[in-house]
Amino acid sequence: MNTDLDRRHLFLAGAGLAAIGLGAGPASAVDGPAQPALKLPPYTAKPLPLDPQKIAGMSERIMISHYENNYLGAVKRLNSIADQLATMDYEKTPGFVVNGLKREELIATNSMILHELFFSNLGDQSKPGPDLEAAMIRDFGGVERWRSQFTAMGRAEGGGSGWVLLTYSPRDKRLVNAWAADHTTTLAGGTPILAMDMYEHAYQMDFGAKAANYVDVFMKVIRWETADRLYGDLTRA
Ligand SMILES: [Fe+2]
Repeated sequence: MNTDLDRRHLFLAGAGLAAIGLGAGPASAVDGPAQPALKLPPYTAKPLPLDPQKIAGMSERIMISHYENNYLGAVKRLNSIADQLATMDYEKTPGFVVNGLKREELIATNSMILHELFFSNLGDQSKPGPDLEAAMIRDFGGVERWRSQFTAMGRAEGGGSGWVLLTYSPRDKRLVNAWAADHTTTLAGGTPILAMDMYEHAYQMDFGAKAANYVDVFMKVIRWETADRLYGDLTRA
């Protein structure tokens, strides 16, 4: 989904970091040579893929706030966590510190990925394309039945913190509406193709505590082009 965030191309910058004391610690006859620190390229933020003045029913103010405070904040936090992990001596670091940082890394990573999907899912008032519509008929009994389920899940999460995700499961070759608390619970092995943000920052500024009104607006401004493309990419193989 994020070719420019693809981190397969790693590079080692250990020699320089170890030389200035940021590597895995000094070498000794007992420990063997110091492990070079793994320095990964930083995550880069994507631009907002929508016109924040043109999402019917949601204000420009909440769109900009959501993008800057929550999305850009997640990317910045993720890079800070990655810097700490890159220079951490795993053999000497207490387990609770490892657990904490890896948990925060997962939260920030999923926040980045799901927010990118969320913003790319918003725009015009459109309909699913023919392939995705056929899959929704197959897996939910119809687009309207899917819509009522997805809407009810959003309303049920109102006031909490989480996501509602239309997700494709390669295992069963079917679509699933997945409940997700925080940023950490997604269908194992599944790939979300439509993300509804149910954190309060997504609606409080415009709708107050009326999360259901935000859900209704979201359902009207889904830009189906993104979900159509992702569904096609996942099922074409
Ligand atoms: Fe959000």
